[in-house]
Amino acid sequence: MAFDIEMIKKVYANFSSRVDAARNVVGKPLTLAEKILYAHLWDGNATKAFVRGTDYVDFAPDRVAMQDATAQMALLQFMQAGRPKVAVPSTVHCDHLITAKEGADIDLPRAKTESAEVFDFLSSVSNKYGIGFWKPGAGIIHQVVLENYAFPGGMMIGTDSHTVNAGGLGMVAIGVGGADACDVMAGLPWELKFPKLIGVKLTGKLNGWTSAKDVILKVAGILTVKGGTGSIVEYFGEGAKNLSCTGKGTICNMGAEIGATTSTFGYDDSMERYLRATNRADVADAANAIKGHLTGDPEVYANPEQYFDQVIEIDLNELEPYLNGPFTPDLATPISKMKEIAAANGWPSKVEWGLIGSCTNSSYEDLSRAASVAKQAIAKGLGKKAEFGINPGSEQVRYTANRDGLLETFEDLDATIFTNACGPCIGMWDRVGAEKQEKNTIVHSFNRNFAKRADGNPNTYAFVTSPELVAALAIAGDLGFNPITDTLTNDKGEQVKLDPPVGDELPVKGYAVEDAGYQAPAEDGSKVEVLVSPTSHRLQLLDPFAAWEGTDLKGLKLLIKAKGKCTTDHISMAGPWLKFRGHLDNISNNMLIGAVNFFNDKTDSVKNQLTGEYGAVPATQRAYKAVGIGSIVVGDENYGEGSSREHAAMEPRHLGVRAVLVKSFARIHETNLKKQGMLALTFADKDDYNKIKEDDIIDIIGLTEFAPNKPLNVVLHHTDGSEDTIVVNHSYNDQQIEWFKAGGALNIIRREAAA
Ligand code: F3S
Repeated sequence: MAFDIEMIKKVYANFSSRVDAARNVVGKPLTLAEKILYAHLWDGNATKAFVRGTDYVDFAPDRVAMQDATAQMALLQFMQAGRPKVAVPSTVHCDHLITAKEGADIDLPRAKTESAEVFDFLSSVSNKYGIGFWKPGAGIIHQVVLENYAFPGGMMIGTDSHTVNAGGLGMVAIGVGGADACDVMAGLPWELKFPKLIGVKLTGKLNGWTSAKDVILKVAGILTVKGGTGSIVEYFGEGAKNLSCTGKGTICNMGAEIGATTSTFGYDDSMERYLRATNRADVADAANAIKGHLTGDPEVYANPEQYFDQVIEIDLNELEPYLNGPFTPDLATPISKMKEIAAANGWPSKVEWGLIGSCTNSSYEDLSRAASVAKQAIAKGLGKKAEFGINPGSEQVRYTANRDGLLETFEDLDATIFTNACGPCIGMWDRVGAEKQEKNTIVHSFNRNFAKRADGNPNTYAFVTSPELVAALAIAGDLGFNPITDTLTNDKGEQVKLDPPVGDELPVKGYAVEDAGYQAPAEDGSKVEVLVSPTSHRLQLLDPFAAWEGTDLKGLKLLIKAKGKCTTDHISMAGPWLKFRGHLDNISNNMLIGAVNFFNDKTDSVKNQLTGEYGAVPATQRAYKAVGIGSIVVGDENYGEGSSREHAAMEPRHLGVRAVLVKSFARIHETNLKKQGMLALTFADKDDYNKIKEDDIIDIIGLTEFAPNKPLNVVLHHTDGSEDTIVVNHSYNDQQIEWFKAGGALNIIRREAAA
């Protein structure tokens, strides 16, 4: 499982000259994000300064991380790339396919049986191609990466939007689609638009009930789900140094919820402590040797307004605990206002479940602080009023927390200890009674709370908060309970108050684990066979997509005009569909079933223009495909926000959708569409969204002269015989246009491997 210290030393050996070269071309002091980006240019030392938010740049990431749900498609694609071995250190983590129900002892063996075919595939394909494999139960990808692989100043990509978690250890770590991962594993450069930079200056020190989670809940409230789009968020200041490394991870983790490309912190003592505690003293020593390069230049932090595109300042001394939600992670309510605001909005005040876990908040420190709340509740004669569940972040965290009595404390409060895995966070939660779809409230320490995310019930009001507040609210059973001011009645009828949580940044007795759940790849994988049954429902080998036909696209049908929020969950739902992540045709039966049709306000109900009847989106699209008619999907703002899953791009591609035209895109999804050879277009005039009618026949004109920065035209043929011609923009560069022409980026990689 060992991290690759030689690789890290190589990165550090070049760091100084690369940062100097960058400082020369940029002509001013550098932020940390700039240092890491310029230190990872594919072409070596910088020869020009890149324009933030404009220039596409080729990078050379140090690592790739993949979780089981996305790894299937990433590796099915890699198998098509014609390479014998991955070109950079890569890992697979089995964490998404484990349903939480009765507790780890029962749930994990069941998941291993249910998904044996997928786990065996991932294990063998990892073994063959030189990829480290973390077995089911080993932990959640981002916690395992932070514990084992993240290193200050490194660059990593991962097939999961919360890859950004590794910013807590000073990385630039970015969530991508499987196609991008496939490129990097195949030894190709990875392209990214040079991000803008948001600086967050932290002053003061967390105290009382406030935690690292509250920093990002507050930032999410300020920036909203779109505010970080195209930007790296860099945290700095005395307040940053006062945070633990895993706390920094929590903050970076939820940078995904503000749409940020990633977030990061400069190397400091907390990171050194964490590296040493997780058996990586040699990484700490190597980082110490180039310490000055692993944080922003002092001038930058002294005058941040001059160097960042936007600056936010937060005083940790003044910060209040927050609860964000329901249904969106940027609706931030300080705990002191929750009672009033919940009542005004009709949010159910009774808390039914408190859940601690997810890659956001499942560290030892998180568990220890929440356990301190649980412990005093028991000592003060309080029970819990809500159900209570815990998913430890990794086997190492679980084993250590168990050794130190933290899990016993939770169990004393009648909590269920689920598997070291995503569980409810990804909708893999067999919640009793969820099918009744009753209006109810849950609180959790996760990062996302879109409708239906945790339990599939659209009427579950989910609030995101810190683990310690989850514990307090599960004990109180009341969303409006403020532990700073309120009391609870104990078993003797007395009014008691909960003391602020206390915890250990790192386990006092050190981390321990018996079997971390790691499988090293074969030295020579050439003889390893990867089996995929042709009759499998879970896995399907890929066929290449067809190349562009070389003409404008005419006579397209409107498949759906999606209204409002359309995240990757709406486009390719998770939960029960996760099991088909390795089978493109089967998972395509969930395509856009969560999107709201503008014309009837219903989900999964669109007009089939061939029959005039309303039907499910996938079935309607299959009907168009069957007669060789292409279609177009129209969407609203920030289309495709949420996760990096390329299924949200591959499904429409597989079923014959030719273009997605929206007011604006979330970055990862836009890139994923391009990689799969789709047209990702935006309205030049957003009001043109209103010109799209339900029965329109649509032409896309200008493709024979498709070129960067050159808009295309879309002609809308309405049923009354009238026409509208609207201008649509795109962000394709020359290389991406080649992807479109070839029918997808993979077709080009394969061609090159064969040459
Ligand atoms: Fe898993 Fe939820 Fe994180 S799905 S990777 S725990 S965001």
